[in-house]
Amino acid sequence: MSMKPSLPPSPAHAVHCREVTKDFGTGDARLPVLRGVNFGARSGELTFLVGPSGCGKTTLISVIAGLLNPDAGAVELFGASVAALPPEEQILFRRRHLGFVFQQYHLLPSLSAAENAAVPLLAAGMKRAAAVDRAKGLLDRLGLGKRLDARPSQLSGGQQQRVALARALIHEPRLIVCDEPTAALDHQTGEAVMELLAGSAVQPDRAVIVVTHDNRVFHFADAIAHMDDGRITHTQTKFPVGS
Ligand SMILES: Nc1ncnc2c1ncn2[C@@H]1O[C@H](COP(=O)(O)OP(=O)(O)OP(=O)(O)O)[C@@H](O)[C@H]1O
Ligand SMILES: [Mg+2]
Repeated sequence: MSMKPSLPPSPAHAVHCREVTKDFGTGDARLPVLRGVNFGARSGELTFLVGPSGCGKTTLISVIAGLLNPDAGAVELFGASVAALPPEEQILFRRRHLGFVFQQYHLLPSLSAAENAAVPLLAAGMKRAAAVDRAKGLLDRLGLGKRLDARPSQLSGGQQQRVALARALIHEPRLIVCDEPTAALDHQTGEAVMELLAGSAVQPDRAVIVVTHDNRVFHFADAIAHMDDGRITHTQTKFPVGS
């Protein structure tokens, strides 16, 4: 009798976290922040991650994006364990396949809006003029056509947020992870940003994860994962898995 090899996770799963744990601090100050997270985000879908402040959302997406190492558990992206790759391949994988919008934007202060948005293309070796040109086109679609040459310090919070979003989208990564992308935006601009993200997720080999408290945009979600105190408590899906 032969044993079947265990199947890899469904390719529909762009992100698969199993029993992921992460503590911050040491000794008496040790704080368990992720306490055995099981989480999935499917290709072709826009997955929201919601939960109270401090429950671990930013920590979880930082682990998914490889910005933080988990203490235990497994994280697979598109069926592969990125952590198992040699370090230089991990960097290349993330640079090519990941777009990340930080809660605090993290734009480079000495670069213009268009140059900031072009960074992933420049890192991939595209010529400066072509990269900045493409960035300008995307920023224009995000309503920033008149602020292309402004430095981040000259932009409002909502404008900086859209530059950060453009930077996450410009190289058409397979996985886009956004921390509160509509927090600083009015309703109309927030809807436009979500439409852009939903449009990105619709591609069959792409996935978008959005951390949000913004219930005005919940109708965009294909799935909503609820997090509390370091764990995913339940997930709502628009369509039952397998349908
Ligand atoms: N670098 C760090 N060192 C120590 N503790 C940290 C660190 N980063 C986060 N924490 C703690 O981990 C917990 C989870 O933080 P996290 O930023 O993941 O929460 P969050 O769900 O994103 O909250 P919010 O909705 O306010 O952004 C918090 O108690 C926070 O104080
Ligand atoms: Mg956060």
